[in-house]
Amino acid sequence: MTKFVVNGHEFESNDPPDMPLLWALRDRLKMTGTKFGCGIGLCGACTVIIDGQAKRSCQVPISNVAGKAITTIEGLAPIETPTAIQAAWIAEQVPQCGYCQSGMIMAATALLARKPNPSDADIDEAMTNICRCGTYPRVRRAIHRAAGATASAQPAIAPATGAAHE
Ligand code: FES
Ligand code: FES
Repeated sequence: MTKFVVNGHEFESNDPPDMPLLWALRDRLKMTGTKFGCGIGLCGACTVIIDGQAKRSCQVPISNVAGKAITTIEGLAPIETPTAIQAAWIAEQVPQCGYCQSGMIMAATALLARKPNPSDADIDEAMTNICRCGTYPRVRRAIHRAAGATASAQPAIAPATGAAHE
């Protein structure tokens, strides 16, 4: 049995230890906000935060998260009280089709928790997620907007825990 915490709730899994975390989130916990894209660690659609680090959950076996705290897109703030990143995403109207966006938001959330005022180079380095709709310029603007907001107000990361090209 593997035990881990998802969005503040403990979860026990009897699945094989090499099962990807993404499967546990989507198929067992029915948290479908984390998306399956490539399945080989390239696209970032499956990004979640594990102990403060953005990770591609399709590449993380559940045995590797035993005892760890995971935050998914469902663990961020509700729409009534968005985090600075969620608010910036709305203000910049970032999503197009939306498929990549939960992974983008989780990667950006981890970035701002680690680096509250990232440069464009920091953003490029951290945000390696792929967007087929080409929302990269809006992703970048939203991260800068959120960084500005957090300098004066809201936390960049949700209470539960912890990209792009022009
Ligand atoms: S589905 Fe995990 S990186 Fe693409
Ligand atoms: S918004 Fe469509 S893939 Fe990114």
